[in-house]
Amino acid sequence: MAVPPEVETRISELREAIGHHDFRYYVLDDPEVSDAEYDALVRELRGLEEQFPEAVTPDSPTQRPGGWVDQTTFAAVQHVQPMLSLDNAVDLPELEAWHARIRRIADVGYRFVCEPKVDGLAISLLYEDGRLVRGATRGDGVSGEDVTLNVKTIRSIPHRLALESPPAVLEVRGEVFMPVAVFEELNRKQGEAGERLFANPRNAGAGSLRQLDPRVTAGRRLDTFCYQVGAKEGGPRLRSHWESLEWLKECGLPVNPDIGCASDLGAVEKFCAEVLGRRHALSYEVDGVVVKVDDYGHREELGATTKAPRWAIAFKFPPEEKTTVLREIQVSIGRTGRATPFAVLEPVFVGGSTVGLATLHNQDEVARKDVRPRDTVVVRKAGDVIPEVVAPVIAKRPKGARAWKFPTECPACGGPLVRLEGEADHFCVNFDCPAQRVQRVVHFSSRAAMDIEHLGEQTAVQLVERGLVNDVGDIYALSLDDALGLEGFAQLSAENLLAAVEQSKGRPLPNLLVALGIRHVGRAAAVELARHLGHLDRIEGASQEELEAVEGIGPVIAQSVRRFFDSKANRVVIDKLRATGVNFEVPGGGGAGSGGPGGGGLPFSDLTFVLTGGLDGFSRDEARAAIEERGGKVAGSVSKKTSYVVVGTDPGSKLAKAEQLGVPILDEPAFVKLLEG
Ligand code: IVH
Repeated sequence: MAVPPEVETRISELREAIGHHDFRYYVLDDPEVSDAEYDALVRELRGLEEQFPEAVTPDSPTQRPGGWVDQTTFAAVQHVQPMLSLDNAVDLPELEAWHARIRRIADVGYRFVCEPKVDGLAISLLYEDGRLVRGATRGDGVSGEDVTLNVKTIRSIPHRLALESPPAVLEVRGEVFMPVAVFEELNRKQGEAGERLFANPRNAGAGSLRQLDPRVTAGRRLDTFCYQVGAKEGGPRLRSHWESLEWLKECGLPVNPDIGCASDLGAVEKFCAEVLGRRHALSYEVDGVVVKVDDYGHREELGATTKAPRWAIAFKFPPEEKTTVLREIQVSIGRTGRATPFAVLEPVFVGGSTVGLATLHNQDEVARKDVRPRDTVVVRKAGDVIPEVVAPVIAKRPKGARAWKFPTECPACGGPLVRLEGEADHFCVNFDCPAQRVQRVVHFSSRAAMDIEHLGEQTAVQLVERGLVNDVGDIYALSLDDALGLEGFAQLSAENLLAAVEQSKGRPLPNLLVALGIRHVGRAAAVELARHLGHLDRIEGASQEELEAVEGIGPVIAQSVRRFFDSKANRVVIDKLRATGVNFEVPGGGGAGSGGPGGGGLPFSDLTFVLTGGLDGFSRDEARAAIEERGGKVAGSVSKKTSYVVVGTDPGSKLAKAEQLGVPILDEPAFVKLLEG
């Protein structure tokens, strides 16, 4: 069948694009597109070539392993055997199709070895008579770069094999990577030094290995897992992959401890799901699972194409990074007046949800990342972490894109935005700013504060815009007519809103303290103030010294509390709340000395908590402090020993793990109840 001209054009476009992205990825360590986008191009090309086999040329990217050699910086070396690549499966049907394919070639009972696919850089290590003589990158698969000196700085790679009589020649393949903790630490330091941040551990790892000065590599604490025996002369006869991994360990080479065996496809799928579930609990980044036929005899029957072996497949996880266009940068005003820049994005589906907005934290963060309006940017949404703009794709920057300047005026009230010396944040200092008013109302009615159902942000905006609510004290003066006048409210919903407002009057004192939004007073401090002083009037009347005498209250919190109650505007609000009958006291009067822990030790001693997802009323640190003050412990991962898992919004894999192990799960209100004993 002749190849239609439009198909030919598309094929050459795809080949050119893939070549370009290979160069960015392998040579510059600075990819312009996510792996998923790259894979989509390769798939499209492969699809067209399958349809029109006469269009296949020997130099098509589908016919050779991708990759480049950078000969201007490192010497090129020939690989003893070509380093092949892997075919991908992006979902279970594709994995099952691969399984069906190999069963058609040889209908035998395959056993599989499943390995987390570490997102790093492939490496070839050559040992002669047990001595490490060469380390090389994969390059184009046929020849790579000689990075021997750099490889020798990686601690987990032995310079000598731990064998009494080593084989004459042994070539081992594996993955060099930067552990996530090392990456985070490196970026923290880069940031402090005002240096460019690395986009992800893979780029940081690749950049570190391909340093001309090995001392730089040595300082980057790279690690390695070996996963394949290549050329080998001498040594034991190896009959299966599993056996070879065991032998690599005997050689003293690092092998990933998370590798597992699977006796059928069902077990393979279970393994993949399990690794996906704890992907963020691993100390290294994974982007999938490599599934390999175990038996070397079976492998031989299956063979390889020029590009990849048929006996292995990479089961890829859904991508957590994508590129999209940053439309503009806006600033939002919080209840304290803090002005936070955020990116308005072309919506993009990433990490399991559609992301349209991403925080940019503050001015320095925008400058450090150098993201500009109209830039194409890499967006990351991983696990329970909030969406983040990782970096701009400089190569795609439109002409004339200017660096973003922090606005000098508040977008809500037009007042000045002020950045105090030594502070990272800008603030709108106008206490009457409508945006701050709205956010104070939203915070006041949030779940961990006064928990007023039906009073969310949209309603708060209307209440403030119509002048019905100027401060949180006005919430309790709302009439049914006021509520009926709001957009989206009918008789029943208006009645519900008023009932919720009424009901909130009885919330415990710590909730009221949190609701007032006193700077530095989180849940833990609120609980202590309520427990020791027992009544809002007593807290209001306490001197700085009396406040500091309360357990867990230091000078910073004490001063902030004093400042809050010294403000006339705040006292007016408190008076309104008092007049409408909002609860100001701890049942039984509370007060100094009462309610303290009894003789039986602290209430949470022997309890271990794990936190996952975002909480409304606490930062992570506050939640941790509240637990620890009560004698409890906070752990990073869920095990059978975990007493409770506290689950907020967008929980991570820890929730699934808790469910699996039957660990009790607390939502925020239940956690608050437990804190209050
Ligand atoms: S096996 C012929 N095993 O994935 C087999 N590769 O997409 C070749 N990778 O270039 C590779 N972890 O950089 C294999 N356990 C693992 C791996 C792994 C990560 C990387 C490797 C390779 C790429 C293929």
